[in-house]
Amino acid sequence: MKIGIIVHSQTGHTLSVVERLKERLTAAGHSVEIERITPVDENERGLENVKFEKLPDISPYEAFIFAAPVQAFSVSPVMKAYLGRLPALNGKNAACFVTKSLPFSWTGGRQAISFMKNSIEAKGGKVVATGIINWGGRGREKEIAELLEQFSKAF
Ligand SMILES: Cc1cc2nc3c(=O)[nH]c(=O)nc-3n(C[C@H](O)[C@H](O)[C@H](O)COP(=O)(O)O)c2cc1C
Repeated sequence: MKIGIIVHSQTGHTLSVVERLKERLTAAGHSVEIERITPVDENERGLENVKFEKLPDISPYEAFIFAAPVQAFSVSPVMKAYLGRLPALNGKNAACFVTKSLPFSWTGGRQAISFMKNSIEAKGGKVVATGIINWGGRGREKEIAELLEQFSKAF
């Protein structure tokens, strides 16, 4: 299956997980591309004002993974702005995950996933897996291993 991984990563954490995910899914026989969405200004907080260096053409992909950091107790404004401009997903499968640094799921993880899930479903996508990686936690490696396992089974 041709899978597009759309990632926003400000400091590289989320990108590093996405790279491992690509390796894992490729080994399972999928064709995987990482599409990094880069804003012109990382600090722009007005969603309608976020401008991107370039937006990927997602039409060739049969399934998607969306990944981003938690910022200010939800998914990053950059990913929010991107999801708002996402073309129709026409029933395609999608998974999403976030990385975060503060402990406890109430510091933005659940809110971020809920926002991403609602946005994907609003565009007609079917959410098949979600994940939250706590970057500062001692269980980080285990969480990443579980996410790789869960996501590779979902496609
Ligand atoms: C502006 C900003 C706001 C953040 N807000 C939160 C937050 O509300 N909750 C949290 O758990 N982590 C928060 N973080 C930490 C990031 O989510 C975490 O370091 C993440 O792994 C960064 O991913 P990246 O390297 O892919 O950008 C914030 C980081 C930044 C830069």
